[in-house]
Amino acid sequence: MSEQDRIRVAIIGAGIVGLTFAVALNAFDKEHKFAIDLYEAAPELSEIGAGINIWPRTWRILEQIGMKDILIPLLDHYPDLKRRVVFEIRKSDQRDGFRITDIVKEGGALRIHRADFQRSLIERLPLPGSGASINSTCNLHLSHRLIDYTETSVPSSPGSSHSCPITLHFADRPSVSCDILLAADGIKSTVRPLFLNRLPDPQRYERYMEPVWSGSTAYRGLVEQAELMRAFPVHRILKLPGIMYVGKSKHVVVYPVSGGKYINVVAVVHEVFKEGTEWTGPSSVQVDQAEFLSCFEGWEEELRALIYCIKQPTKWPINNLDHLDIFAKQRVLLMGDAVHAMVPHQGAGAGTGIEDAYILAALFAHPSSPRSFSASWIKQLGDIYNLVRVPHAIAMSKASIKQGYLDTLHAPGFEKYKEGDDVPRDLLDDLFSVVKRNWDWTATDPEKDRRIATGYLEKPITPML
Ligand SMILES: Cc1cc2nc3c(=O)[nH]c(=O)nc-3n(C[C@H](O)[C@H](O)[C@H](O)COP(=O)(O)OP(=O)(O)OC[C@H]3O[C@@H](n4cnc5c(N)ncnc54)[C@H](O)[C@@H]3O)c2cc1C
Ligand SMILES: *[C@@H]1O[C@H](CO)[C@@H](O)[C@H](O)[C@H]1NC(C)=O
Repeated sequence: MSEQDRIRVAIIGAGIVGLTFAVALNAFDKEHKFAIDLYEAAPELSEIGAGINIWPRTWRILEQIGMKDILIPLLDHYPDLKRRVVFEIRKSDQRDGFRITDIVKEGGALRIHRADFQRSLIERLPLPGSGASINSTCNLHLSHRLIDYTETSVPSSPGSSHSCPITLHFADRPSVSCDILLAADGIKSTVRPLFLNRLPDPQRYERYMEPVWSGSTAYRGLVEQAELMRAFPVHRILKLPGIMYVGKSKHVVVYPVSGGKYINVVAVVHEVFKEGTEWTGPSSVQVDQAEFLSCFEGWEEELRALIYCIKQPTKWPINNLDHLDIFAKQRVLLMGDAVHAMVPHQGAGAGTGIEDAYILAALFAHPSSPRSFSASWIKQLGDIYNLVRVPHAIAMSKASIKQGYLDTLHAPGFEKYKEGDDVPRDLLDDLFSVVKRNWDWTATDPEKDRRIATGYLEKPITPML
């Protein structure tokens, strides 16, 4: 198919979700119907942050889109479905901490360094001259910050399928046009408020314009394994795939990444009464170790030893986007954190966005898709996407919020206990059996959702919107 005839998809944001969409569409687009332009505000692609959990459910998607071989050497274990420990859970807000239970799941959780993951996705982009096999053509445009978009309500030449009804406006760059705008521009999305303000009833969407503070603050950092071996040679994390240290109003998630070279530490301080209030500090700052340590005064020594070994800890507010009920309308579709940024306590934010990208790419590339752009086709596709993805993302976000409470011992029966108190063993056991169930979905099959979504293309739904 010639270049000009292809349906032109603009993706805003080359984070994990935008990149995954480009790779997935290329994998599924047998008939070479699409041309992708990927616009990224940053001058180069670099992933901040450290480790990321990939659950077996997400792994199946990565396999299907051709990422298996490139990722396997970068994972902490081979991605099979053997039952594995995900975390040892320890009651740790006391000197003599103890093991409560293990979270054991089919396939465990795969751990990877974010930079390795992002680099692998970039390597699989179907860029010209990249050596990757190309089904959907793709161009990457760095230093392109979208500031606005306009929709031309009347096609420039009636009847022409090649009209360009969306114009993208960038800071200090010429405007361009596209057939479909796909936004994957993250929690601080530029597209989200523009999109919501163009809905028939924008007042209704006031509270979805900006994310709000969850009341939680995360301290993050990496420990060099070699340094920990010097400082604390018998440390439990040198032998375990993951530990969660819990106590009242705080919990710390620890797991090795990069083949054990580093240990990723995310410590959460949960001030439940501040949920929904305004965060006044900056969105990410370096903090000194003294501040980090003082939050975990009196906690068990093996946890404090990890904090001692973090050279440059950073502090982040954990924000949450309220549960938006529309992700797409006509030619504009949003994915990932841009529409469902959630608290990180299920380790599933990126996984949920990867699923959006996978489902959308499958819908785009379905054999019933037209050869050239059609307004009725994209409308149907957006209706299906809303129908299948909105409830899924809301459920994941709610489960993440719930887990943020459970992991910090905010649950019925725990009201009277303060940080450092002894808590009856049966209360702890019951609580963490709820936590285990909350993670029941981790090895389910995403292909089922894909079939449901593409099934609607064959048997159309009555649109909700
Ligand atoms: C502490 C913590 C731990 C986490 N752990 C996990 C985990 O274990 N597992 C998991 O699945 N998820 C986890 N998450 C969630 C995960 O990090 C996010 O859900 C995921 O990174 C979102 O990806 P995204 O591509 O939607 O957005 P982003 O990664 O934010 O990418 C957005 C991109 O868009 C670009 N952009 C923004 N505005 C514009 C514009 N106007 N024009 C052009 N480009 C623009 C940005 O520069 C950026 O590159 C965690 C999150 C936190 C905070
Ligand atoms: C291109 O499409 C074909 C047919 O669907 C597929 O087998 C191939 O893997 C795709 N290429 C890439 C790089 O995914």
